[in-house]
Amino acid sequence: MALTGAALFAFVIAHMLGNWLIFVGPDAINAYAYKLQSMPELLWVARLGLLAMVGVHIACAVSLIIDNRRAKAGGYSVGKPVDATWASRSMALSGLIVLSFIIFHLLHFTTQNIDPSYRTMYASLDGKKVHDVYNMVVKGFSNPLVSGFYILGVGLLGAHLAHGVQSMFRSLGLSSPGIFPLLKKAALAFGLLIGLGMAAVPISVLSGVVKARPDIEYTSHHIANAQHASLE
Ligand code: HEM
Repeated sequence: MALTGAALFAFVIAHMLGNWLIFVGPDAINAYAYKLQSMPELLWVARLGLLAMVGVHIACAVSLIIDNRRAKAGGYSVGKPVDATWASRSMALSGLIVLSFIIFHLLHFTTQNIDPSYRTMYASLDGKKVHDVYNMVVKGFSNPLVSGFYILGVGLLGAHLAHGVQSMFRSLGLSSPGIFPLLKKAALAFGLLIGLGMAAVPISVLSGVVKARPDIEYTSHHIANAQHASLE
């Protein structure tokens, strides 16, 4: 569970840094997405690797829940569990909501089934016709309901990580009673960084900080102009 969690955590950090390119500008994020899409073999290895990590992570979680239930089959004899935070007791629930968020997210931005109009959004980049990821993300987050679901999803992901990261250090034997309080604070800081860092994108679109850039759209108008120019 700790090893797959660590790999998924690394993916989330890399993905967040990639998403922040939206603040650099349309060309930056479109070029990044174009680069990833132009390495299909690598992309598929990463996709299958991620899927395997998620599968093993969930299988371990289910087995852990079953073991825990068995261990306290008679229930607690006295009072409530001690030293258990809201995040630690809600790992299964936050994990399930994060999973449903990821499924929605893939249907939204990767397969583009939620709004098929994304499939016809193009931008020009160094004279090439590329997928307009910038305007797709802005269009997606202009819907407050969609943005709200993303903010909830990434907020719960942050809570899941706040507990998960410190658990991971303990499972890997990298913690000791001396450093545990510090580790707990660092894990909380990481959870907050991921939750707020990911939520920054929908919040910036909703608040108008990041705006649609129709001027970079690769429209039929651009094509007609280009053809006209080449005829002259
Ligand atoms: C507000 C937060 C997020 C934004 C703005 C965002 C944005 C995106 C975009 C634009 C794509 C499609 C890229 C393309 O067109 O090539 C994508 C793909 C993806 N995202 Fe996110 N994402 C967010 C949060 C997350 C989270 C929290 C996770 C998982 C924990 C995640 C997992 C993925 C995965 C697995 C893909 C598919 C990559 C592929 O197979 O091509 N995303 N994301």
